[in-house]
Amino acid sequence: MFEHIERVPGDAILGLIEAYKQDDNPRKVDLGVGVYRDDEGNTPVLAAVKRAEKRLEESEETKSYIGSHGDERYTNAIARLVLGEDSSALEANRISVTQSPGGTGALRLAADFIATSLPGRAIWLSQPTWPNHPAVFGAAGLELKHYPYVNADNRLDFDAMLAALNEVPAGDVVLLHACCHNPTGFDLDTDQWQQVLEVVKNRQLLPLIDFAYQGFGDGLEEDARGVRLFVESLDEVLVTSSCSKNFGLYRERTGALMIAAANEKQMLDVRSQIAITARENYSTPPSHGAAVVGEILTDDELTTLWLKELAQMRDRINGLRSDFVEALRPHGLAERFAFIGEQRGMFSYTGLDADQVKRLRDEFSIYMVGSGRANVAGLSANSLDYVAEAIASVVR
Ligand code: LMR
Repeated sequence: MFEHIERVPGDAILGLIEAYKQDDNPRKVDLGVGVYRDDEGNTPVLAAVKRAEKRLEESEETKSYIGSHGDERYTNAIARLVLGEDSSALEANRISVTQSPGGTGALRLAADFIATSLPGRAIWLSQPTWPNHPAVFGAAGLELKHYPYVNADNRLDFDAMLAALNEVPAGDVVLLHACCHNPTGFDLDTDQWQQVLEVVKNRQLLPLIDFAYQGFGDGLEEDARGVRLFVESLDEVLVTSSCSKNFGLYRERTGALMIAAANEKQMLDVRSQIAITARENYSTPPSHGAAVVGEILTDDELTTLWLKELAQMRDRINGLRSDFVEALRPHGLAERFAFIGEQRGMFSYTGLDADQVKRLRDEFSIYMVGSGRANVAGLSANSLDYVAEAIASVVR
């Protein structure tokens, strides 16, 4: 029965984890998958998480199921974190929040919801986008379309983006990255968000905002400005959020799908559909990560500790961006790569092509995604000069 099944290549990003592990070059550098790393190259469990886990170990009384929408302490807290303490949409009870297995699980819930309840609508993705976006939405059966995001020099091309969105058929879905655009690192400023909002309104599009990096760009509140502007200004918005990066809970698969509807009744109607979609996919979400986040966000002391750790991660990445540009200076490349300092979040779209990326891997054991995306957090004080030298040698 299985004779005809072909072997397919594994996921390009996840495959880098294995390839890096197997490389025995002591100078190897992992700029591949988007996980935060400290100066020693580790992805430690946050102290706030460790403390919350200790408390949960003592207090947890059951392993029975949590409902399809998840742990209410978590969903209430995450909604306030994402939408703001003073969100009028939350106040109006027009937001449905569903805990999901990671941000990817939230994307799949959204994708299935669109396919089932809003059929015939294409989804528009930025070109480029996270490679798993087309995979997830394609698997749900949605038609995929693209709007430009960068120009030939790999810089944000907002005019081209806006012009393309102005041509999107009414009712289609537009996927936007809330902050720390993956893979480019180029974000919209407040004025640009406002302009996109006007187009979305005029053309009656349905925005789906992927918010996987809250707190990794400019700050928790600053990174949420696009999401909050949209949710407060529009009747209908989908937001997918993730605690993988900002709480360092990658493997605990902790995310949420938030859906804004025009009123409480419509919100409850939509919410009933999401419960069914969850049930059909995985039934109920895993508990642990959400319990940890719920514990942290409902305790002042743990929240303060977490905020401090989040700021440390953010500051380290932003510091590495400027240090990296400086490390490229002796090679005459500081101007050419100055944009790395302007990008935000974990990723930098370096502009290196697939051959150059391959040479970095083959000749220097430096791993990055084939599109030229580098995880800046994978750099360290020890590797900056080595990576700068290697880049100088492949661009020469
Ligand atoms: C990435 O883009 O590297 C991260 O979002 C991890 C992943 O699942 O691809």
